[in-house]
This record gives sequence, C-alpha cells and structure tokens, in this order.
Amino acid sequence: MSRTVIHGGLVITASDEIHADVLVEGGRVAALAAHGTAAAGSWTADRSIDATGKYVIPGGVDAHTHMEMPFGGTSAADTFETGTRAAAWGGTTTIIDFAVQSVGGSLRGGLDAWYAKADGNCAVDYAFHMILADVNESSLKEMDLLVSEGVTSFKLFMAYPGVFYSDDGQILRAMQRAGGNGGLIMMHAENGIAIDVLVEQALAAGRTDPRYHGDVRKVALEAEATHRAVQLARVAGAPLYVVHVSADEAVAEIAAARHKGLPVFGETCPQYLFLSTDNLAEPGFEGAKYVCSTPLRPREHQEALWRGLRNDELQVVSTDHCPFCFSGQKELGRGDFSKIPNGLPGVENRMDLLHQAVVEGHISRRRWIDIACAAPARMFGLYPKKGTIAPGADADIVVYDPHAEQVISARTHHMNVDYSAYEGKHLTGRVETVLSRGVPVIDRHTYVGRAGHGAYLPRGTCQFTR
Ligand code: URP
Ligand code: ZN
Ligand code: ZN
Ligand code: ZN
Repeated sequence: MSRTVIHGGLVITASDEIHADVLVEGGRVAALAAHGTAAAGSWTADRSIDATGKYVIPGGVDAHTHMEMPFGGTSAADTFETGTRAAAWGGTTTIIDFAVQSVGGSLRGGLDAWYAKADGNCAVDYAFHMILADVNESSLKEMDLLVSEGVTSFKLFMAYPGVFYSDDGQILRAMQRAGGNGGLIMMHAENGIAIDVLVEQALAAGRTDPRYHGDVRKVALEAEATHRAVQLARVAGAPLYVVHVSADEAVAEIAAARHKGLPVFGETCPQYLFLSTDNLAEPGFEGAKYVCSTPLRPREHQEALWRGLRNDELQVVSTDHCPFCFSGQKELGRGDFSKIPNGLPGVENRMDLLHQAVVEGHISRRRWIDIACAAPARMFGLYPKKGTIAPGADADIVVYDPHAEQVISARTHHMNVDYSAYEGKHLTGRVETVLSRGVPVIDRHTYVGRAGHGAYLPRGTCQFTR
C-alpha cells in the first residue's frame, strides 16, 4: 500500500485548524499528528509533500453540476471528462451531477443514460441526483428504488413550464414519497407560470435584450415559490433543500422556516455572491454570458446571501455549473432573451472564489470548508468519506497556497467554454496540489490525472435530518 505524508501545513476542516502532518495510506487518511511531534516524525512514506506555509484542506464537494446536459435547444459544453478535469484544477474532488428523467420516460432510463455518460470518463469522483420531469404513479414508485440504490435526492422545478415544470399536486406527491423513503427534495423555486406571462409581455413590447431576463424573473416570484415549497414540504412532512437561492427575500423565507424548526436548507452559488444585474446589462449582447435561473440580482442582495451563509440560514455553496459557449450557444438568444440557454460555467472557480470571500472577511476559513466541502457531503449522504480530513476518510486532499495571486481568464481556465463569467478577476489563493483517494491529480500546478480515475459514489440519505 502506498504511503504519502503531507507535512508542515495548516489542516483546516469545518471544525478545526491545526498545524498537523497527514498520513495517507492507500486511498485513505490513516492518521493526523501535530507537526514536529515524535509520532509524525516516525512515519515513513513513499511520497512526501511539503505543505509549509500552505493550507491542507478537504477536496471540494460541488453538489450541483450539469455536465453535457441537453437544455435550451443545445447541450451544456463540458463533458464529464472536461468538466471533472476542470473541477480538479479548481480543488474540487467530488461532483454531484443531475441525471434527467425525460417527459414520458422513466427514472431508470434517465439514470442509466447518465451512468453511461460518466462511466470511465471522470477525473474525480461523482454521484447523481435525479431530476423529476414527469411525476406520475410509476415515477413516484421508482423514487424508492433510486433511494435504495444510492440516488437519494430529487430535483423538482416550479419553473420552466413545458420542460421540467411540476404543478403543486405533483410536487406534494413527490414530497410525500420522499418523506417516506428518506429522499431529499431539491427545489428550483421560481413561479414559472407567472414568469412566462412576463416573458411574453416583455418580448411583445420589444424588450429582447439579456437584461430583461433578470427583469421578468422577479424577486417576488422567487420568494413566493420558496414560501410555497416550504409550505408544501411542511404539509408532506418532508425535508426541503432550495437550490440556487439568489434573492434576499428567498433567504428570509428559508430563515423563517428554519426558525420554526422545519428541516429546510438552502444553497447559493458564487455567481450570486460575486456577480449582479450590472453584468446582465453589459452592452453588445455580452449580458447573455450571465443568463442563468434564478437570475443574477442587484448587488444589494449579496449582503443577505453572505449573512445567510454566516448564520447557517444557507448551508451550501455549489456552482450550478451549466456552461454554454458564447459563440453558437448563448447566441441562440440574440433578439430574444428567452432563447438564451440558461446557465453559467464555474466548477473550476468555486473553491478560489470562496477563499477570496475569506480574504475579504465575508466568512471564516472554517466556514469556507464547511459550505464548500463538509456541509454538501453531509447534506447528500457522503460524510465523512468526503468533505473532511480525518482517519478513515477518503484522501481527497488539496494543498492550497493562500498567498498566491491569480487572475481568472478563459485563456487559462480548463472548462470547455469560450468565456469566463469572472474574466479579469484578481484572486488571492490558488490550488497547488490535489489528491483524489490518495492519487495525485494536480501536482504543483500540473495536471497528472486521468479520465476514468473518478469513481461513482452511491450515497446515503441526508445527514442533517438523521
Ligand atoms: O440557469 C441554470 N440554473 N441552468 C441550469 C438548470 C437549473 O435550473 O439548475
Ligand atoms: Zn512534519
Ligand atoms: Zn434550477
Ligand atoms: Zn442547476
């Protein structure tokens, strides 16, 4: 069994910061010992990684990605191969992607298609949620099978009528089923029926530019849907996880539910923390690069998101990585913002952007690791295998240089997309080395991984509710 020692670094988890050496045996963390002690000094190893002056952190867990997902008349540009390689470059060693049920199709069929897309192609480990696009008697029954197979979370949409949309009756039924089988309902909370009316009116009035995407997807319609989702989950007796929360009033709905003691959880994404409607309003169709749903909000909303992350009103930051090239994909919506494929690239940038939030004082170092590693692992039944550095955990470890400077650019990123939503942004902190189950994937800024190293992860149920 190969042995690696990572020594001299500051080991940061969601709960601790200790100057410790880490012994990796095979694919797992075998031991931690205070740096400089006789115990650590006695370890022999095949490989020694000097982390002096660096952070030693768990690999990131990105619980919301869409690799090669067909959407908006095209397909997300990252494959499982390119997307997981980019994830590794950015210090993320686990992704949870969304398998899609087609309307009229089974969950089994959708899930098997996603197993086939990912199998043998991933650079880091991966798991699946299931998108329920057609809630009916047979798909409800299939939910039980999926939970027992390790696909323990299900995304429903109050948005996108005619595509992924479920009505309140379908939502209630799926929640009741999840309440019984231990599954976790993930909700895209926007009132899609009302949004479609506003889209039609905007286009009829000649308001076709990307910025109107943000205009029609009103804060009130995110807040209303969030409130409705909470009440339906309460009636069903099921836990609820609200994805990609962007509006201050939606955070308030989640906070109010949690204050009542309801098992309601919230996720936000870096784009809502760092970008705003100013980006959507960039001239010359540039705003299309920032079209996603829920939409970017006016900058004033960001403080509520940061506060929510600090106060545990929001638990997780995922990327909702759903990249579409500007050329040929985002351009499908020239002259009609509703035809711009929805989604932003970001799987490579999340750990760095959240470290920048540490540098800027929005969150502590431990909260960084909590919202990016530990909480998503717990939320989706992967902890402590993933999300921490502790004896027995998978040796998914990042050596992170907190003082390195970098500038984000599409010229240097590794995602298969022709622009960056953060082009030119200066960051302090950079991933140096990444291990996935003890195997180097990034070695001092060089990719040494391989497609097919990444393994499929069957998951347990949500660990915040048991
Ligand atoms: O704009 C987004 N978020 N695209 C991906 C699909 C979704 O709703 O998460
Ligand atoms: Zn040492
Ligand atoms: Zn969504
Ligand atoms: Zn998504």
